[in-house]
Amino acid sequence: MHNGTQNCAYTALQSGDMVMRNFLLLALFFIPATGMAEEQGITGLTAHDIVDNRTTLNLSERMKHRLLSNMREQLVATRTIIGLLAQDNFARASNTTRTKLGKNEELKKIYDSANNEELNKMGMAAMTSAEDLAKTMETNDMKKSLQALRKTMGYCVQCHKKFRQ
Ligand code: HEC
Repeated sequence: MHNGTQNCAYTALQSGDMVMRNFLLLALFFIPATGMAEEQGITGLTAHDIVDNRTTLNLSERMKHRLLSNMREQLVATRTIIGLLAQDNFARASNTTRTKLGKNEELKKIYDSANNEELNKMGMAAMTSAEDLAKTMETNDMKKSLQALRKTMGYCVQCHKKFRQ
């Protein structure tokens, strides 16, 4: 009798565990799903989409290296600009934007070497957008500056979605 009650309680505990385990399994099932949905929103690729369909620029090894090293500088500059904005330092944010993300002869040459009209257009548009961003920052308007920064960064996203080295 005593034993029976114990067994019963044990079974109840076990099934409680089971419910919890099923719940956790279900939760685990959903975590990657939401992660994937998010990823899809940003890159248009799902975690299972392992084929890179972007247009290759067929750059020479030397040009690849120059492109990527310039790109890494663009990323650093973007981070610097965000930091300066966070300090309300519009003047320096504007200056960094103009000198690092604006018209850039080195990057122009690299884009030219790919002989791809669309890349060239996108690259020029990105630089022009950075010049606009620099001007916007001169107004000391945070909201407008952030909106313009988002717009300029849209070119980073757009170009990376379309092309690979
Ligand atoms: C006109 C095209 C274009 C624009 C605009 C552009 N990029 Fe790129 N970027 C590329 C290409 C092409 C690659 C090589 C991608 C690949 O092969 O996967 C690249 C690669 C990169 C990389 C990887 C570098 C490495 O070492 O692997 C970073 C970081 C990067 N870009 C940052 C930026 C940022 C930040 C911006 C905007 C401020 C930007 N890019 C705008 C074309 C562009």
